[in-house]
Amino acid sequence: MAEPVTSFSRPRVLSGMRPTGKLHLGNYMGALANWVRLQDQYECYFFIADWHALTSDYADTSQIVQNTQDVMLDYLAAGLDPARTVLFLQSKVLQHAELNLLLGMITPLGWLERVPTYKEQQENLTGKDLSNYGFLGYPLLMASDILIYQPQFVPVGNDQTAHVELTREVARRFNQFYKLNGEEVLPEPKVLLTPSPKLPGTDGRKMSKSYGNTILLTDPEAEVRKKLKTMVTDPARVRRTDPGDPDKCPVGDLHKVFSTPETLAKVYEGCRSAGIGCIECKGWAADALVQVLNPIQERRAQYSSKDVKDILEDGSDRARVRAEQTMEQVRAAMQLTPGSQTGR
Ligand code: TRP
Ligand code: SF4
Repeated sequence: MAEPVTSFSRPRVLSGMRPTGKLHLGNYMGALANWVRLQDQYECYFFIADWHALTSDYADTSQIVQNTQDVMLDYLAAGLDPARTVLFLQSKVLQHAELNLLLGMITPLGWLERVPTYKEQQENLTGKDLSNYGFLGYPLLMASDILIYQPQFVPVGNDQTAHVELTREVARRFNQFYKLNGEEVLPEPKVLLTPSPKLPGTDGRKMSKSYGNTILLTDPEAEVRKKLKTMVTDPARVRRTDPGDPDKCPVGDLHKVFSTPETLAKVYEGCRSAGIGCIECKGWAADALVQVLNPIQERRAQYSSKDVKDILEDGSDRARVRAEQTMEQVRAAMQLTPGSQTGR
């Protein structure tokens, strides 16, 4: 028999993404596909970090609502299931902001300044002035997002592990200062590292929105085939008669991730013997991508924008209940509010 939706016996996980626009295959393979699998074994909280979009894009907020809608549709299309998983929007759970404020009191500035992404991004995103308080506080807001659900695990990619490490340090510091009836309130969550295969974009570099080399989860078949046609290949294969090496070719990397063993064998054999042409080989890669994208796009088509709004609303209500539960413990441990809060 199926487990009840509100089974609290499973370990809890929480993760989220910033709403930066429609998601691509790299997002899918690097995070979403893994989240979908986690739904079977964990009590899952997945959210859209719309406040986090403001930490660097505060000057132009015009895209946030549309991007949130798009990302949520991509979550659902990928197979995140609102019946089993809490899908919510950060800005609809004000408790994140309250915890962020309280944790801000105990977080040494130096901890934030030495988060590696802080200096890197400030130097890299030269078009924006990032010498603001919100940008410095990004990792602490993330720590609040996490700790407020008291999860055991945070499924993220390698680029986020420093943030989870800071989260653990902040939790430890909180637990040293404050206890509730002698017990710790904020457990230290662990990274659940997402196993993610190397996924190249059409230019051979890592697939990333900022490189403009992505294949979107929403790209129709014709668009996928078109993008594949211009994808870079093994530079040693200049002419059709030159042999190539799939291990030195981004298209070969796509085959390794998405193609069947039989197709992969044909690719290795045909490429190394110059028995196949790159156009044919790319056609097979496109076939494999389309196979992955088809069910995603079919699922996407089943949700209206009203459905998406309702699901976010409902998920945020559920998240708020859970977040408030933690906040009651946090306030009590900090001896902030004798008695209960009203009007929440
Ligand atoms: N920083 C994450 C990213 O850029 C997004 C994020 C915000 C997040 N809060 C989080 C991820 C909490 C996991 C847990 O991808
Ligand atoms: Fe790449 Fe395929 Fe061309 Fe070989 S045949 S170089 S694997 S595209």
